[in-house]
Amino acid sequence: MVARIIPVPSFDLTVFGGTGDLARRKLIPALYRRMRDGQAPRDARILAAARSDLDDAGFRAMAREALEEHVPAAERPAEDMDAFLAMLGYVKVDAMGTEGWDALAERLADQPDRPRAFYLSVAPSLFGPIAERIAGAGLGGPNTRIVVEKPLGRDLEGARALNAQLAEHFDESQLYRIDHYLGKETVQNLMAIRFANALFEPVWNARHIDHVQITVAESLGVGGRGEYYDRSGAMRDMVQNHLMQLLCLTAMEPPNMFDPDAVRDEKLKVIRALDPIGPGHIGTDTVRGQYRGGPLGPSYVEDAGDPDSHTECFVALKAEISNWRWAGAPFYLRTGKRLRARMSEIAIQFKAPPHSIFEGETCHGNTLVIRLQPDEGITLKMTVKDPGPGGMRLIETPLDMTFAKALEGRGVSMPDAYERLIMDVIRGDQTLFMRGDEVEAAWAWVDPIIAAWEHSGAHPQPYDSGGSGPEDALMLMHRDGRRWREIA
Ligand code: BG6
Repeated sequence: MVARIIPVPSFDLTVFGGTGDLARRKLIPALYRRMRDGQAPRDARILAAARSDLDDAGFRAMAREALEEHVPAAERPAEDMDAFLAMLGYVKVDAMGTEGWDALAERLADQPDRPRAFYLSVAPSLFGPIAERIAGAGLGGPNTRIVVEKPLGRDLEGARALNAQLAEHFDESQLYRIDHYLGKETVQNLMAIRFANALFEPVWNARHIDHVQITVAESLGVGGRGEYYDRSGAMRDMVQNHLMQLLCLTAMEPPNMFDPDAVRDEKLKVIRALDPIGPGHIGTDTVRGQYRGGPLGPSYVEDAGDPDSHTECFVALKAEISNWRWAGAPFYLRTGKRLRARMSEIAIQFKAPPHSIFEGETCHGNTLVIRLQPDEGITLKMTVKDPGPGGMRLIETPLDMTFAKALEGRGVSMPDAYERLIMDVIRGDQTLFMRGDEVEAAWAWVDPIIAAWEHSGAHPQPYDSGGSGPEDALMLMHRDGRRWREIA
């Protein structure tokens, strides 16, 4: 059970691409869990819309399989499974044509006042055509919400075109652009830590912070999705969205309230304050990599199916924010596949005390680490006295809070990001979704970097599978007299 469930109203959710991988792995299990916890009412309707020749019974059988695969047996009592499967239906719809739209409108006609969400779990080239047809079928009233997910373009121009297509039929207040990182508990906790505690705000700036490190390391390679991934690369797949969002939440000014536009305005200001990384700095401030083959599996280029691929599956970069709070305290970002461990964290490195009164002992700066996954929690590395009679010796010790442990006994579980995000769509709360201008601003910063890489023609640097990335990524920090934290 998740503590303090606030039920959402009865709703109709139509998932285009509802038989696809995301629906099976994430959306169906997420909706099942929300129903089971009493948050999603049992009279809500969840329709899959796709091209296959299926009917309600066929889709229910598919959803049952998905739940059996992705939800532990202990959480699948027959009564709950039956109740959930009864909420599901299927409509065969041609996203680019006319077939099925009347049938869909008919299925939804008897509940015109419910929140009506359309989740477009399809290729972005279908966003425009589907939005047009939803509106054309008379399904685009004020209670309609459109949910889309990356890739939201592969550059600024593409993102603008997608935003324009959606804007032709829907108002920005009806658009829910998912970045699933914003649905992660600890990412939301970052805002609680910053803005619900007065302790950190006075020192949350370049006067007290030396630098920030944001790491999203993955241990898996690109495996089966190599061909798809090779058209995107780590910059488009991870940095433009997930890492950028983490940077924004860490760096933004306190919004005046936890309200969608107040939060998104502040994030946007951060992106706009990022110093552009021009061709002159590409060599020093960015590093790209590709994993080598080894005991953990084939090399990146083999996974990608292109021996000459120039696509990066590792990126490290130094981002500088030109504003009063952050000038002089860089943000180092890094993400990559097939690294030593799956580890995502934000580490705030505070400055060292200006002077040590303990002879022969160095006082280090404190580090506040916000662990996003796994083992979600916070660690504050403190300097304390090494116990014993041997004089004033200092050691660094973590003050550690693992959320699962600290909040034990409160009936808390860490819900999957999609559980939170889908419920927010139904509630009509856009706070954890990206606004169109945010997405465009992120592309505007990322595009010149990608262009400079392409222009240089340089090959991403090879790195060992199971390691911590290319040598040059270490150099990027060493040059500034700093060091990456261990990936472990
Ligand atoms: C996705 C990327 O958005 O995020 C994947 O497309 C990546 O390449 C995934 O593996 C990481 O998400 P998480 O939640 O496992 O950290």
